[in-house]
Amino acid sequence: MTSKNKRSYLWVDDLSTDETLALFARAEQIKKTLHSGQPVNTLGGKQISVLFSEASTRTKMSFQMAAQRLGGQCLVFDNINTSSMIKGETFEDTFWTLNAMRPDLFIIRCRDSEPLEKIADQSSIPIINAGFGSKGHPTQALLDVFTMKNHFTELAGLRVLYVGDIAHSRVAHSGIMLLQALGAEVKVCAPEVLSKNASLEVENFSSHVEAIRWAQVYVGLRVQFERHESNNNFLKEQFINDFSLSHHKLNSLAKDAVIMHPGPVNWGVEFQDCVRADNRLQMWKQKENGVYVRSALMEKILGVSQ
Ligand code: CP
Repeated sequence: MTSKNKRSYLWVDDLSTDETLALFARAEQIKKTLHSGQPVNTLGGKQISVLFSEASTRTKMSFQMAAQRLGGQCLVFDNINTSSMIKGETFEDTFWTLNAMRPDLFIIRCRDSEPLEKIADQSSIPIINAGFGSKGHPTQALLDVFTMKNHFTELAGLRVLYVGDIAHSRVAHSGIMLLQALGAEVKVCAPEVLSKNASLEVENFSSHVEAIRWAQVYVGLRVQFERHESNNNFLKEQFINDFSLSHHKLNSLAKDAVIMHPGPVNWGVEFQDCVRADNRLQMWKQKENGVYVRSALMEKILGVSQ
């Protein structure tokens, strides 16, 4: 899937692999500049409209931090209950209302039922997808793969394992597509009822321990209880018993492997508490890298750089 609006970033393949790697190089430069205490003012004077109709902590704050670090200004819409959506105004009308105010860029998180692709096709203002229902979360994929590349340098042949709710995961969808495009080997491990994702071609390990032994990167995914139908036969206790990363199972993971999770974590479900102290955990590094990668992406979409 690529976007018709050529300036928007809705799907991971809206950037070529060369563009993605150049973006990573720019994110690394931004990281070094900010670490050295030097300013980056590439988004100076830019107005960025942040429109979130689904909940978020990391992505929303990460984009805001990134924009403000680079001198941009954010106008944030994130509370349906204090907006005119509570009076029945649709997401689409809300978007066109903000669009009429002429921001330079939209950062949008929305539900599967909301017409993200349609508004991106019709608007002349570029849009970055910050999480689209269960369909895609391309900037999470960028920051996850950037974190893997920083650690391992080489992505080709890297063995990446996703464990958890593959069926409902926009993170898995975008991450797997990007990793495959960059030559990594990706497999999943999930109970049958959570393993099906029609648009992905990946092998599902039946044994969690076998999968752990195979992995160089272990990505835990949140079990999205809120997206499950009430009559499915999935049992939380069964997941914890068969697929939770526990103290015992950590012993099967290679010493030089890394553990990642996009967050938020259901502690005691995807990961037992012992994972917090494991020196292979890269979860906090992922959050930090999100700011640099999203900075570089906003620069690219807006056609500005230092
Ligand atoms: N990983 C992620 O998208 O987290 P938020 O839902 O908190 O933004």
